[in-house]
Amino acid sequence: MDVEIVGRALSTLPADDDHPYRTGPWRPQTTEWKADDLEVVGEIPADLDGVYLRNTENPVHPATKLYHPFDGDGMVHVVGFRDGKAFYRNRFVRTDGFLAEQEAGESLWAGIAERPSVAKRADGWGARTRMKDASSTDIVVHAGQALSSFWQCGDLYRLDPLTLETLGKSAWAPDWGVSAHTKADERTGELLFFSYATEAPYLRYGVVGPDNRLKHLTDVPLPGPRLPHDMAFTENYAILNDFPLFWDQRLIDQGKYASRFHPDLPSRFAVLPRLGSEIRWFEADPTYVLHFTNAYEEGDEIVLDGFRQGCPEPPDPRGEGVYQRMFRFLALERMQVTLWRWRLNLTTGRVKEEQLSERYTEFGVINPDTAARPYRYTYAATQKPGWFLMDGIVKHDLLTGAQERYAYGDEVFGSEATVVPRAGGTSEDDAYLVTLTTDMNADRSECLVLDAARLSDGPLARIRLPERISSGTHATWAPGSALRGWHEGPPTV
Ligand SMILES: [Fe+2]
Repeated sequence: MDVEIVGRALSTLPADDDHPYRTGPWRPQTTEWKADDLEVVGEIPADLDGVYLRNTENPVHPATKLYHPFDGDGMVHVVGFRDGKAFYRNRFVRTDGFLAEQEAGESLWAGIAERPSVAKRADGWGARTRMKDASSTDIVVHAGQALSSFWQCGDLYRLDPLTLETLGKSAWAPDWGVSAHTKADERTGELLFFSYATEAPYLRYGVVGPDNRLKHLTDVPLPGPRLPHDMAFTENYAILNDFPLFWDQRLIDQGKYASRFHPDLPSRFAVLPRLGSEIRWFEADPTYVLHFTNAYEEGDEIVLDGFRQGCPEPPDPRGEGVYQRMFRFLALERMQVTLWRWRLNLTTGRVKEEQLSERYTEFGVINPDTAARPYRYTYAATQKPGWFLMDGIVKHDLLTGAQERYAYGDEVFGSEATVVPRAGGTSEDDAYLVTLTTDMNADRSECLVLDAARLSDGPLARIRLPERISSGTHATWAPGSALRGWHEGPPTV
């Protein structure tokens, strides 16, 4: 392994930090690495060709009052695979907010567990305002560049997908910023996105073309401020949502942001032509959905799959302390999150619902060749009970109902996996799964490559990273063929 430290961020976190999401598997990093020819246990498949990119919240300053695990600065990791070898880089996303706080040596904006009024700066980003543009939530690749995003809406940052150098912001982003979970459609080269705010019309939807220019932007008027986190698309439609878990307007007027579930209100799905403005609304049973896995058209119906929360607002564990109250919204078993299917009938306007699995899972991924198409498999994460930590991966067979699981091991935690179809693959699961782990026993991190058809056999390759990295969530894969300069070998920085 050829390793070099190329950067260090200023951290003002205390040496005796005891925050549950800044210690243990969530211990943040300050070091930026360049590592080539990584050590491998097993064998990297010679046909695995491209990059796995993962974003993470990685805080470097204490919060003004109370840190929430979704507040940290964005740090992106890349593991690149070519000719049976792998390289690694990690870089902070150089957002305006990150750079200003590096200069100031302290937090300048409010986190989501804090009132905006605690922010030291009057400006800021986010639907609720006065937050940092952390760009820490999600990452996709569009038009040859990686785009990092923030779940409360902010600037989209453009990164070189090989070096992770921050190149700037997306020029086309509307004034509300852009939510996490932009959708890159590999077939059309388009990027679908949404933005939300606390002012009418509360939700907007847009499309960016393969030329990286905005080609469509339309209002999706809602009855009030909402908290959409994800969207879905089919070949012809975009699907947005209005779930009955949202900020209380009366509290917003007092400068407080607390989400409440309203079980008396329906869930609503907005279906729009991908480049149109005509909205059809469909009503379903009340719930909240953080992530969708896929959607496709079938006869008169749109089939929409995602993770339904059986209990979007778990009971308040009064007396157990502020962390337990805050973190109940991160525990799949507390929120009773299971894989679900909604069938939206375009002829009758009705919705049929079906539970696809009783197992508590989230963060589902599919073979990208089946996006917006009928498909069979979803690969989703299981969680350490009570913790925002992924302890295994489950392959859901939607045709037979069968499940196959690989557990990372006691106190070993993964990231969102990506599915990498094998070139010339003959079936949907003729593919690799790639993820990053944080191993608390061995005090190290690895990149795992698994065979999607034989998940429970365990990794084909374990690739050692130079440092134990913080646990993290959203990830994406980009094939080498989509990356400029890929065939010149690992990046020089
Ligand atoms: Fe997300």
